[in-house]
Amino acid sequence: MRSVALGTRGPHRHNGQVTAILDAPAPALRIGPLALRSPVVLAPMAGITNVAFRTLCREQETRYSGTDAAGLYVCEMVTARALVERHPDTLHMTTFAPSEQPRSLQLYTVDPATTADAVRMIAEEDLADHIDMNFGCPVPKVTRKGGGAALPYKRQLFAQIVRAAVRAAEPAGIPVTVKFRIGIDEEHHTHLDAGRIAAAEGAVAVALHARTAAQRYSGTARWDEISRLKDHVSGIPVLGNGDIFDAQDAVAMMAQTGCDGVVVGRGCLGRPWLFAELAAALTGSPAPTPPTLGEVATVLRRHAHLLAAHHGPDRGLRDLRKHMAWYLRGFPVGSELRQQLALVSHLNELDRLLDQLDQDVPFPADAEGPRGRQGSPGKVALPAGWLDDPDDITVPQGAEINNSGG
Ligand SMILES: Cc1cc2nc3c(=O)[nH]c(=O)nc-3n(C[C@H](O)[C@H](O)[C@H](O)COP(=O)(O)O)c2cc1C
Repeated sequence: MRSVALGTRGPHRHNGQVTAILDAPAPALRIGPLALRSPVVLAPMAGITNVAFRTLCREQETRYSGTDAAGLYVCEMVTARALVERHPDTLHMTTFAPSEQPRSLQLYTVDPATTADAVRMIAEEDLADHIDMNFGCPVPKVTRKGGGAALPYKRQLFAQIVRAAVRAAEPAGIPVTVKFRIGIDEEHHTHLDAGRIAAAEGAVAVALHARTAAQRYSGTARWDEISRLKDHVSGIPVLGNGDIFDAQDAVAMMAQTGCDGVVVGRGCLGRPWLFAELAAALTGSPAPTPPTLGEVATVLRRHAHLLAAHHGPDRGLRDLRKHMAWYLRGFPVGSELRQQLALVSHLNELDRLLDQLDQDVPFPADAEGPRGRQGSPGKVALPAGWLDDPDDITVPQGAEINNSGG
């Protein structure tokens, strides 16, 4: 059953198709025991969705909407093995702010036993309220060993890993969700089996990044595959992911695919207020006015302070640099000032540089459209003989990573 009404408020294009637009507010989203007022999820992004960025997104949503943050904000992924081995960097990545409710943690894992250990640790030490599992990573050093987006091809091993997580999470009542891609490449789609298996093993929602691993981040996400997954999986929410760069994209994805919620990644880079725009569009509220350059500078300052508190001032300010071009995109800022901002290393230097911006410039139309990582498609590196037997349950060796992405 489609969860949203289709209407005709206006046309919207995706993949060259004109799609219908929601004419009724999108319903709230239930992730097992967690009731979310908004069906919007901040996508886990390695190196981005740490406690500082999530706090900033929540604050912006509250500022614009006047209510508490309504969606789900997922932590950057942590590796199950590194968590179990208590690597200090990994433990630091599991930091949540006291205001974060629910606390959502993403696990990267390739092995049922380590998965169970990691989830038991999360439950016993009360590290999170929700666990998402990452089976979408296309990075060659990971797929070459059978990890990430290569793993769902091994149907039984995938089932064992999801089962291990669900069972270990059950005593604490922690819901488990699973995120994956369409498959390895055009010849090896795995999403329909992954959705069916995840639901059968007790996952409470699945999310599809509607690209194959071979596509990486190139081309356009194939929303029709989200519709297919929605038709294929029953009983649990199906979340759509890929190429939501503004509120209208989110509305269009829900209307076009019938998905129960949307997962938003690159679109919020340098635009943490996007969640307020998404929540407004999906609930039929008036769209908030996008920030002026002066208001963007205030958000940037706040991001810097949050990163400095999380990582310490040196690393915090270094980490901020990668966000700079995203924040300033489309604004008239001279190249010299941009360059200085991109190399900023102290909070007072940041203040001095931001003060030089023309505060009243309105949010530019040029800032719209795709942003963040794009890349080009490529053949997916796999272990020798990986495709021979989808039912092989041998745990891949050397596929644990410390930090990568999806
Ligand atoms: C910088 C970056 C880091 C990412 N890290 C992760 C990750 O740790 N776990 C994951 O499941 N996906 C990760 N992804 C993928 C996103 O969650 C999302 O699936 C993808 O960006 C497509 O959504 P979008 O079009 O809204 O960006 C990452 C993406 C980016 C751009």
